[in-house]
Amino acid sequence: MRILYFGDIVGDDTLKIFEDYLEDIKKEYKINLVLANAENLTGGKGLSFKHYKALKKLGFAGLSMGNHTFSKREIRDYMDDATIVKPANLNSEEGKDILYIKYNDKTIAMVNLLGRVYSNTPLDCPFKTMDALLDEIEADYILVDFHGDATSEKKAFFYDFAGKVTAIVGTHTHVQTADEEVYKNTCYITDMGMCGPEKSIIGDDVDMIIKRFRTGVFEPLVVSSDKNYILNGVILDINDNGNSITRFQKKLVLND
Ligand SMILES: [Fe+2]
Ligand SMILES: [Fe+2]
Repeated sequence: MRILYFGDIVGDDTLKIFEDYLEDIKKEYKINLVLANAENLTGGKGLSFKHYKALKKLGFAGLSMGNHTFSKREIRDYMDDATIVKPANLNSEEGKDILYIKYNDKTIAMVNLLGRVYSNTPLDCPFKTMDALLDEIEADYILVDFHGDATSEKKAFFYDFAGKVTAIVGTHTHVQTADEEVYKNTCYITDMGMCGPEKSIIGDDVDMIIKRFRTGVFEPLVVSSDKNYILNGVILDINDNGNSITRFQKKLVLND
């Protein structure tokens, strides 16, 4: 089974990129299943119902989130019935801690966790949360999106859970790392990178972010309007005889 897992989708216009190019990408790379982290799609923070439906229509089979899971409050109204997995170590009653996806005769479990290093959100321990989830999960394959800032925390999680899950893919920094590897048949990358405007500061308008740093005055967040887009992610080849991970990156131009 070949899975294309995209990193954080940033900004509404990235949907147009997927509308124009996703089918061709799926054909070119012979993709069976498309997954993504969708925490930054709507206006750069959160996921509206309208945008969730648009992703479903495009064929995204499962969506993981992150620290912006609840940035659009309407997600509370629809996430219980949606193919969305929320960070399991976030203490919220709403949403799923495990998302099961069927592909042919196989069951895939998607899990999402938040890192605690550099985070000021009160969170349960991601390691102990994963211990508990492993007791509960019944699936052929387990895919974990570890959403966090610190490379060390993600790498420690990888070595701790290598051999126990199929893949651990990092998100949140929006910058793709070049450290993909397989250990004990578990695929890993510290960060898949983002899908969004290329001339940007992790998706946002360059001038606005420079102003923030120079003045300390926080203007409302604006997603970059650059028409050149970059799609980052990984291709996971999951098979009974061994798993592999390949970095995915594609540069595309937004059509008018
Ligand atoms: Fe993000
Ligand atoms: Fe994030």
